[in-house]
Amino acid sequence: VKTIAVLTGGGDAPGLNAVIRAVVRTALGHGLKVWGIKNGFGGMVENQFIELTDSSVAGILPRGGTMLGTTNRDNPFNYPQTEGGQVVYKNMSAQALDNLRRADIEALVVIGGDGSLRIASEFYQLGLPVVAVPKTIDNDIPGTERTFGFDTAVTVATDALDRLHTTAESHHRVMVLEVMGRYAGWIALHAGLAGGADCILIPEIPFKLDSVIAKIKERQQRGRQFSLIVIAEGAYREGGEMSVSFIVEGSHEKIRLGGAGEKLAREIEKLTGVESRCTVLGHVQRGGSPTAFDRVLSTRYGVAAVECIFDGAFGNMVALQKNRIIRVPITEIAGQANNVTLDNELLKAGRAIGICFGD
Ligand code: F6P
Repeated sequence: VKTIAVLTGGGDAPGLNAVIRAVVRTALGHGLKVWGIKNGFGGMVENQFIELTDSSVAGILPRGGTMLGTTNRDNPFNYPQTEGGQVVYKNMSAQALDNLRRADIEALVVIGGDGSLRIASEFYQLGLPVVAVPKTIDNDIPGTERTFGFDTAVTVATDALDRLHTTAESHHRVMVLEVMGRYAGWIALHAGLAGGADCILIPEIPFKLDSVIAKIKERQQRGRQFSLIVIAEGAYREGGEMSVSFIVEGSHEKIRLGGAGEKLAREIEKLTGVESRCTVLGHVQRGGSPTAFDRVLSTRYGVAAVECIFDGAFGNMVALQKNRIIRVPITEIAGQANNVTLDNELLKAGRAIGICFGD
């Protein structure tokens, strides 16, 4: 292999630039030529390639976002085209592959989450030599114990909890922090444990409002006039509906956030009489500089992805297990999820100290 390409797909996550840098440096070190594909898989269809050199990746390690651009609206197998003023969706995968061929690109590194892994898997099955790197702040990709970006999101959410703690205590209020995680409660669980939350609510375990209220009242009886609740955006009441809904717009899923945290704060105030406020952390969790852990993990992933290419180990995602980088076949994990299970050790720890439900 003499020429490779790298792209970043789906929502951004802190550490994307660190992966790109590691891919480029490792490949250049072995005399390879590296193309960056701009704006995710869409750039493959649109022929948006830029050559990446040592100087293109200089200084990007601590930077959030992605120097290559990214988008959620970019599936080449169902790609938007304007015809006669109308948007129609077409399979443009052949054109995308042709663009790669004309640039002599022999292997592709896809840095992405579940959607990008599905597309990568389809291209791999069409014969494209692909290697994937698991990215999402949600940490919900199977086959790996960690996705990069997650540690940064947890750190930001923990800092938010520390800040909410002092204002909650001063005002004798209930503070609800809504964090990201539409299907998976990993951010809520980790940040809730790290930030000393009194109650952690995750999508995997529908909660009983009674239990939340009982927790707040029990604290009041012990002289604690404030409480901190962490709720994942996808968490919902038992028998109720998820606050996050999905609409399909053209070829892609769009998320509609339903204000899980705000709804909960209103109900708590009504049922306890305690003033309650909600903070929605949102994309603050995705932006900005990656933590040291994410920078190191991203660098390891980028190096390992290029090593897969040297070994001809295509169709794999690099992954972290027991602090070692391993390879997992993309076809085995595409379309699968990694959720918090009832036997999860952290969840059990949360239950042991009385801040998690689900027994
Ligand atoms: O998957 C990452 C994530 O940040 C989720 O936690 C969140 O629900 C979603 O993406 C938000 O997507 P968007 O940036 O498209 O609003």
